[in-house]
Amino acid sequence: MGLRLTLVLSAFFGLMFAFVSLTTSQARKNQWQIAIVPKALTGEYWVRCKKGSEAAAKQFGVKLTFVGPSAETDVDKQIDIVENLITRGVHAIGISPCDGKALVPVIEKAVSKGIPVVTLDSDAKTDKRLAYIGTDNEKAGELAAKELAKLMNGRGKVLIIQGVPGAENLMQRVKGFRRVLAKYPRIEIVSEQACQSDLTRALEIAENALRAHSDLGGIFGVNAYGAPGAAQAVKEAGKTGEVKIVGFDAIPTTLKYCAEGVVQAIVEQRPYRMGYLAVRYLKEALEGKKIPKMVDTGVDIITSEQAKKMLLSKPK
Ligand code: BGC
Repeated sequence: MGLRLTLVLSAFFGLMFAFVSLTTSQARKNQWQIAIVPKALTGEYWVRCKKGSEAAAKQFGVKLTFVGPSAETDVDKQIDIVENLITRGVHAIGISPCDGKALVPVIEKAVSKGIPVVTLDSDAKTDKRLAYIGTDNEKAGELAAKELAKLMNGRGKVLIIQGVPGAENLMQRVKGFRRVLAKYPRIEIVSEQACQSDLTRALEIAENALRAHSDLGGIFGVNAYGAPGAAQAVKEAGKTGEVKIVGFDAIPTTLKYCAEGVVQAIVEQRPYRMGYLAVRYLKEALEGKKIPKMVDTGVDIITSEQAKKMLLSKPK
């Protein structure tokens, strides 16, 4: 009798134990851990991307880690971060590679370990990643060139302020930009320099170009740092409106310069949407759903009038 009771009890507790471990593993399975790795944690652009990722994580019930280097130039740090995420065993990774080539081995390592990877904002030179989610950068560079050529009436000298060399999205923008300007025989690109995503450096590049070419007609800011640096230099040189500026990303400083008429046009990307869609598609991929290989998140062109309205509609 005593033995029977012991057997029954141990069978009961055994079953209970199996049930509890099954439900915890089930819960763990439902709580996907997704990491988003931006080029850098700093700057308004990435703050917006983070907000989008967080909104999707909340909506779709996934655990989000948003982790990146403190500067876009720290390629090694970004590689380390992905290595750590692989070791930690996150389920999926979304990344904006600081360098489109240098990040390839670690991206491929993640994929070989069964971790789906998508790129967002900027692509990597590998077809192992599941998807690219972001701006069609060549097209956006072409748009910037068309705007600048129009503003310059098809003639004059142009300076390009690049961001960090090696970043795929920025190289594609310059490619599209140059392709369009090549059709204007009276426009000459006099210099292309990288500001390394440093505002002071962008300012210095613009100041030097304004000194070297007193007849400079236009500046193209390739990433979020180019236009505000250029605008400060042009304003301080008393050349507002004379030197036309077209840049990327309506971060608060650029928007103010645009409303003031120092920056003539901004190619506005959708980083919130990139962050949101990266999390959403990674979760769908983890659930075995097919996701699109390329998602163009689109851009808007913002001119002075719109910039004024946008500033007014923003809470103080
Ligand atoms: C680019 C990002 C970059 C950001 C800040 C944006 O235009 O799309 O890749 O990190 O500027 O520099």
